[in-house]
Amino acid sequence: MASIARMMVVKSLGLALLLSFWDPSSYAQDHETIPPPRKLTTELSERAAANYQRYCALCHGANREGYANDHAPSLRSESLFQSGVPHAVLRPLSYGREGTAMGGYLDEVGGPLTLDETWDLTYWLFWESGVDRVKLSTNPVHGDIRRGKVVYQENCASCHGVNGEGVNAPALGNQSALAHNTDEFIRYAIRYGRNGTPMPAWGETLSDADIDNVTAFLRSRASGWSMQKPVLKAMPAPDEYVINPDGEDPDFDLTEGRYVSATDLLAAMQGKKRMVLLDTRVTSVWQRVHLEGSIPIPYYTNFDELADQLPKDVQIVAYCSCPRAAADHVVNKLRRRGYENTAVLYEGIFGWMNMGYPVMRGDFEVAAD
Ligand code: HEC
Ligand code: HEC
Repeated sequence: MASIARMMVVKSLGLALLLSFWDPSSYAQDHETIPPPRKLTTELSERAAANYQRYCALCHGANREGYANDHAPSLRSESLFQSGVPHAVLRPLSYGREGTAMGGYLDEVGGPLTLDETWDLTYWLFWESGVDRVKLSTNPVHGDIRRGKVVYQENCASCHGVNGEGVNAPALGNQSALAHNTDEFIRYAIRYGRNGTPMPAWGETLSDADIDNVTAFLRSRASGWSMQKPVLKAMPAPDEYVINPDGEDPDFDLTEGRYVSATDLLAAMQGKKRMVLLDTRVTSVWQRVHLEGSIPIPYYTNFDELADQLPKDVQIVAYCSCPRAAADHVVNKLRRRGYENTAVLYEGIFGWMNMGYPVMRGDFEVAAD
């Protein structure tokens, strides 16, 4: 491990030197370091570490390495934290990335963390990364958008998708990401890649001009995104957990002893079968959109406290967006506690919505920001 890390340092030093010959002015500007963010007390740091394990490890991995589930990116790559204005971490953590498995964790949008806790977790991630931050300007990066599009389709679409939708890499056309990431932050990621992940350092192969062009092209996809503030719904009470309490039990044909298809679940819902639907995602995304009648029982629930609120004799179906990781996790926990009648929606809620099946949407007001 140490030798790999050393190789990466040597490699990025070499790259940095090379770049400094290509464009000394941008290099100098890129590498003015700024003080680390606020250091946490031992107590706060321990709490942030515990929150990380409870809320984030499922997808981003126990050691912040990323890719534990659903292509969640690394939360320890050097370049992310070097270029990182804390907001580049705080924003996705607080508000999520719409249309991806990354939900918002801030209480204001219906998540489990307070504002202080989201800041502490952000600072903790910076400190854990152990890198110096680089001062990036907030000026726009200028480039030829048409040429940038060609560069994008030739070099980036295979991983990030023809329309920036993300295939096995983050969605670069995502409005929530483009609204918060500055041009320089994006350019830094392109130039230096993300160490220890599949994202290459394009400074080694593309010209500076083309890096600017593709940055400008990505920026041109941001068509104004205004922050939406949810009108938070009350959580359902235990006596509302069972849908169609007078209906018949469904008779699902489960694959691998646990997965129910979206088609079968829809038929059961339309047939008014007696069921409990568990939304296992972070609670803020239940506020945004969920299957009708579902209750938010997120993957980080303390299942000992949940104890007997869930009936054992009713068919339980859990779902998430990742597309099964969180729901599998919850069903494993329940089965260990004697809940035999449990299943996971195979397609997840995104698959369900892509099939055109109905969902309930939350109410939003456009926030002044
Ligand atoms: C081999 C697959 C692959 C290719 C090709 C690729 N990327 Fe990436 N890219 C990734 C992955 C994976 C990540 C996320 C890495 C992480 O942080 O874990 C990423 C991250 C990024 C990010 C940072 C996103 C963020 O929100 O932090 C940007 C910007 C980016 N890529 C742009 C590009 C551009 C522009 C190109 C083409 C010049 C490109 N990528 C080509 C795989 C790829
Ligand atoms: C259910 C899976 C899941 C969980 C749990 C999760 N994330 Fe994510 N996260 C993702 C995915 C997927 C993305 C990439 C979204 C995209 O395509 O832009 C992401 C992106 C991010 C990013 C943006 C990184 C970048 O390179 O731009 C940050 C920061 C982040 N997550 C932090 C967290 C933190 C902190 C937690 C815990 C509080 C957390 N996430 C929990 C799936 C998850």
